[in-house]
Amino acid sequence: MRNTHTFLAKLIHWTFIPLYAYGIFKQVDDLSQLEDPSLLNFEILFATVFLVIVLLRYFYMKDTPTLLGAHDELPKGHLFIAKMVHRLVYFSLIMLPTTGLLIAGLFSLETGGVEIAISIHEFSADLSYVVIALHVGATFYSRFKGEGLWNAMVPIWKETEKNNSNLVSRLEVIEKKVYKEIEDKFIKE
Ligand code: HEM
Ligand code: HEM
Repeated sequence: MRNTHTFLAKLIHWTFIPLYAYGIFKQVDDLSQLEDPSLLNFEILFATVFLVIVLLRYFYMKDTPTLLGAHDELPKGHLFIAKMVHRLVYFSLIMLPTTGLLIAGLFSLETGGVEIAISIHEFSADLSYVVIALHVGATFYSRFKGEGLWNAMVPIWKETEKNNSNLVSRLEVIEKKVYKEIEDKFIKE
């Protein structure tokens, strides 16, 4: 079985990060800014391009096995958490431009309800910070354990071998209990 992501998957993963960072940093600070038609049009164009790229990425990646670089077979509970976090990343990345476009629509039509759309938009941004931080944290944790997942997506600072330290053995005992709990609660055979 293939144990690394394709060149295209890596290219999309790494080039998407500056796009996301740009979207977050260029954010609209105030609703009144949308009175400027050129800014409003630019926001609509940006959100549309962002949304199309996220959807194309999702459909390209959706049949790729999760954590495919692992040296050993991973517990079902582990894969369940990883898939859940990836799905939440996609969900927040779809909600951000969609609610942005909703704000643009409600603002232009002056129908009201724009404040609610802004609240959902802000929630989507906060959700993206949390799930992406979890994702990056989990990836570094896996790199520390030397499981092989890192090498499948990250082209630098490659892992060389599994970490067999006492600390990792103790952490793995705790992890196994968590995975077992998740399997019993959420994964039906
Ligand atoms: C230092 C930062 C990052 C590192 C080291 C990293 C590492 C990785 C690794 C190793 C995988 C492969 C997991 C697997 O095999 O299933 C992966 C997948 C993924 N990453 Fe990251 N990542 C980083 C930042 C980000 C950011 C900022 C985003 C979102 C904007 C993101 C979104 C995703 C998604 C959605 C996947 C699932 C596979 C896909 O659809 O591309 N990552 N990442
Ligand atoms: C991919 C596209 C977009 C991204 C990544 C994005 C990102 C953000 C972020 C990070 C915030 C701050 C949220 C917070 O404070 O927690 C924000 C606020 C906001 N965004 Fe967006 N946005 C996008 C598209 C749009 C579009 C298309 C519009 C409307 C034309 C829009 C209008 C607003 C407004 C009105 C606010 C709230 C400003 C305030 O606090 O009054 N955004 N956006």
